[in-house]
Amino acid sequence: MDDVEEMVGTSSAMGAVFDLIRRVATTDMPVLLTGETGTGKELTAQAIHVRSLRKEGPFVPINCGAIPETLLESELFGHERGAFTGAVTKKKGKLETAAGGTVFLDEVGDLLPGLQVKLLRFLQDGTFERVGGRETIRVDARVIAATNVDLKAAISANKFREDLYYRLGVLHILLPPLRARGEDTLLMAMVFLRRAATASGKLVFSYTLEAVDAMRAYSWPGNVRELSNRVRRAVVMAEGDEITARDLDLVTEDHHTADSLHSLKAAQRRIEVELLVRAISLHHGNLTRVARDLEVSRSTLYRKLHAYGLEKLIPSNISSSSSSSSSSVIRKSKRMSAARPVVL
Ligand SMILES: Nc1ncnc2c1ncn2[C@@H]1O[C@H](COP(=O)(O)OP(=O)(O)OP(=O)(O)O)[C@@H](O)[C@H]1O
Ligand SMILES: [Mg+2]
Repeated sequence: MDDVEEMVGTSSAMGAVFDLIRRVATTDMPVLLTGETGTGKELTAQAIHVRSLRKEGPFVPINCGAIPETLLESELFGHERGAFTGAVTKKKGKLETAAGGTVFLDEVGDLLPGLQVKLLRFLQDGTFERVGGRETIRVDARVIAATNVDLKAAISANKFREDLYYRLGVLHILLPPLRARGEDTLLMAMVFLRRAATASGKLVFSYTLEAVDAMRAYSWPGNVRELSNRVRRAVVMAEGDEITARDLDLVTEDHHTADSLHSLKAAQRRIEVELLVRAISLHHGNLTRVARDLEVSRSTLYRKLHAYGLEKLIPSNISSSSSSSSSSVIRKSKRMSAARPVVL
C-alpha cells in the first residue's frame, strides 16, 4: 500500500499502543480497534498491515456503517451474475479483493445480524458464498475491525452477537482519547503545524503561550482529527508567524481567570512553557541551540523541561551531556523535510 502516515506519540498510553501494534502485526489473527472518533483507528489498522507479513498484499477498507445492508453484503462478499436486479455481471467482494492482504471493517458495530453470521463463519473457517452463489469461496484475508460504539452494550441490547465479538476481539487495541495523552497534544500540534505550513508555504512557526494553554485545557472531543483540522485552519487564519488561540478557535472567556495577578509563579510557568515549546519547535529539537537561544545552560534547560512535564520533548537518543547537533525531537527526515518526532 502507499506510504502510511506515521503515528506520533510519546505518552505512556501511546507507548503501550505502539507496543501492541508491533506485537499483533506478527500474527494473522483478527484485531479489534476501539476508541472515540478521530483517535486513529484507521491509521492503526494501516500501521498493523504495513508491519505484517501481508504488507505486500492489499489493504482494503470498507465502512460497514455507510452502506445499506443489501448493498453491503454484495460489497463484502461479492455477487453472482443475476443475483439481484442490476447484477448484470459477477462481482468480487472486498474480502476476495483483500486476498493475501488485510480487510479493514470500519464501524463493524453497524453490521446487521445476517451479515454478522456470515462474517462469523468467515472468521471461523475462511469461507463464504457470494450473494446468489452456491460455490463456497475460500479466501486468505486478515480481518481488522474497528468501532466507536460500545460493543458490550450492543451485545446486551441484542444488536451484536457475543460469539462474533469474542472472535473479533481476541486481540484488542483501545486507542486512548487525546485528552489522556498528556503532552502528545502539543507534540502533534507541532508536527501538524509543520506539515500544514510546509503544504501552504506560509511562514508560521509556533504557538503563542495562550494557544499552548488553550490546547492543554481543551478536551478535544474530536481527538486527533480535530487537532489536525484546527491546526490546518489556524495556519490559514494566522496573520503573523505564530498561531494564536483565536486562530485555533479555542478562545474561552475565563481563560486567564485561574491565574490571578498575585500568582507570579503561574505567570512565570506559562511564559517559560511557551518559550520552551516555541524554541524547541524553532530549533527542530536541537537542545544545544535551544539553550543558547534562551540563554540558559543545558542542565537548566533539562531541569525546566522536567519541571513542566515537557521531558517527553527531549530526544530519547541523547543524554543530558550530549551536544550532538543532529539530535532532535523533530528529526530531519530523509524523505521529506516535515517534522518527525517520536513516531511508530
Ligand atoms: N497518533 C497519531 N499521529 C499522527 N496522526 C494521527 C494519529 N492518530 C490519528 N492521526 C490522524 O488523525 C486523523 C484521524 O485518524 P483516523 O481516521 O485513523 O481516526 P479514526 O479513529 O478512524 O476516526 P473515526 O472513528 O472518526 O473513523 C487522520 O488524519 C490520522 O492520520
Ligand atoms: Mg475511521
